[in-house]
Amino acid sequence: MSTLKKLQQYAGKRKILFPLSMLLSAISALAGMLPFVLIWFIVGELFASGGQASASGNMIAYAWWAAGSAIASVVLYFGALMLSHLAAFRVESNMRYEATRKIVQMPLGFFDSNTSGRIRKIIDDNAGVTHTFLAHQLPDLAATFLIPVVALALIFVFSWQLGLACLIPVVVTIILMTLVMGGGKSQQFMKSYMTSLEEMNTEAVEYVRGIPVVKVFQQTIFSFKNFHRCIMSYNKMVMQYTLTWEKTMSAYTVAINSFIFVLAPVSILLIGHTGDFAGVLLNFFLFILVTPVFSQSIMRSMYLQQALGQAGEAIGRIDKLTGYAPLPASANPRTIDKFDIRFENVFFRYPDVEQNAVDGVSFTLPQGKTVALVGASGGGKTTIARLIPRFWDVCEGAVLISGVNVKDIEPKELMKRISFVFQNTHLFKTTLLENIKYGNPSASMEEVERAVEMAQCREIIDKQPLGLHTKIGTEGTYLSGGEQQRIVLARAILKNAPIVVLDEATAFTDPENEHLIHRALAELTRGKTVLMIAHRLNGIVNADNILVIDKGKIAEQGTHKGLIDKQGIYSNMWNEYRQSVCWTIGKEVTHA
Ligand SMILES: Nc1ncnc2c1ncn2[C@@H]1O[C@H](COP(=O)(O)OP(=O)(O)OP(=O)(O)O)[C@@H](O)[C@H]1O
Ligand SMILES: [Mg+2]
Repeated sequence: MSTLKKLQQYAGKRKILFPLSMLLSAISALAGMLPFVLIWFIVGELFASGGQASASGNMIAYAWWAAGSAIASVVLYFGALMLSHLAAFRVESNMRYEATRKIVQMPLGFFDSNTSGRIRKIIDDNAGVTHTFLAHQLPDLAATFLIPVVALALIFVFSWQLGLACLIPVVVTIILMTLVMGGGKSQQFMKSYMTSLEEMNTEAVEYVRGIPVVKVFQQTIFSFKNFHRCIMSYNKMVMQYTLTWEKTMSAYTVAINSFIFVLAPVSILLIGHTGDFAGVLLNFFLFILVTPVFSQSIMRSMYLQQALGQAGEAIGRIDKLTGYAPLPASANPRTIDKFDIRFENVFFRYPDVEQNAVDGVSFTLPQGKTVALVGASGGGKTTIARLIPRFWDVCEGAVLISGVNVKDIEPKELMKRISFVFQNTHLFKTTLLENIKYGNPSASMEEVERAVEMAQCREIIDKQPLGLHTKIGTEGTYLSGGEQQRIVLARAILKNAPIVVLDEATAFTDPENEHLIHRALAELTRGKTVLMIAHRLNGIVNADNILVIDKGKIAEQGTHKGLIDKQGIYSNMWNEYRQSVCWTIGKEVTHA
């Protein structure tokens, strides 16, 4: 029932359409039963007239009424479905709208663990799942319960003996149905069924994305063990579930269709007992016509139950996705006019992870200076950097800009003051101009041109057929990784924020590109407060302070020279880095 309530809430003002639709559907069902009764009267008159089909006035009237009520039943049902669809589509669209609204408010870090594909799929598919239940099955709900009651009443009015007889299969089917549906087994199954589907979909996307890698490494598709495993486990689960119900379902189907086998012998006994051949035969026909109504209602209520379970599960999945609390907003948000950054004994743990990703980190980054984070992969550098623009909020301690806790800074202001260049850059499939102007939509053309110049992008733009107005990703316009990085730097330069956070912007590029990127970075960071993460240590030798991050802690800190003299982790890293550079050159020399 709580599922129903939740669904109703999503319908908003159209909530009223659900009971209306159920009412219409119930009236339609009653109108649908009327012809049976009228036929009983017609046949009764036929018997009474001794089989001479001289159509009396009554019989013609009955026939008209029967036809009329049959048509009314169809028309009313059509109306019921129309109303239920109007409401069901509203529920779907509101579910999508609500979920999207919540997603937009999620902390930025949420998008790390939830890819855009997964988010779309969960919202879109699960909202769609509610449709069958709301549009098609809910209108039948009233009818499903009303019809058997009316049918039962009718039956007892006409012949209580036959009425009792046809209750036998009904009782058997209800018992079997309770067995099938009861015990939470089917709910459990629905849960694992939907999880399994979701996994299969995710793995299928992963599979398609990985095809180039598979080809390059000459692997067969069986290297996609996860995809294969998902399909197999889905197959196994569904097969197992199906087989569990083999016997119960067979018995159920037999029972639900076995009225005739009970009614026929009881009717014969009745004829023998009462001697009223015509009367019993008449009732027998009526029962044969009416009893399928029972089986239909029972079948329907079974599917209804199933669809309700599915809809409940769907709502649960969307709720779970959007259940992350948005970052709390400060009661009196503040602005900042200085840009020094301070970490005060900061602890941070990712949701559902036990270990601290940041474990008691304190440091100060004075305005206009540069602090570099280095250290082994997985140490927590990216995490530390992301706490500044509130991808997540710290668990303990505080991150302060200009002495103000980032939690208390007006969110728009915070975003405006920080340029964040990510580890993996993202360009939109639109013109280069729009991509760059994303940093500052109100920038003039001169400002854009200047940013292009400073980010060393001139030669990239000149190469393109339409210059800045060339669309990326169309008509053979593809940018190399290094070129993309420079466009992203142009975007950041145009934003001209006083705080710059750089996450490994110089990785994976060739020496020529690296040189250009260094120049672009120099332009971007001039006079700014900079937090820089770099794996290539030559980019940070001039940093004002270098923090060596290990397992979420600051293991060492100092200037490049100071740390080299210390002969600790950093000096080892530096030696290894130097060797790797020499090794590359040495190798090239031998090859030449
Ligand atoms: N979204 C996330 N959810 C859960 N754990 C995460 C998430 N992102 C990172 N982690 C974990 O937090 C730890 C620190 O990761 P982080 O990305 O900060 O390391 P890093 O120092 O930037 O590494 P790299 O040099 O490879 O970029 C790792 O153990 C990582 O597995
Ligand atoms: Mg990182």
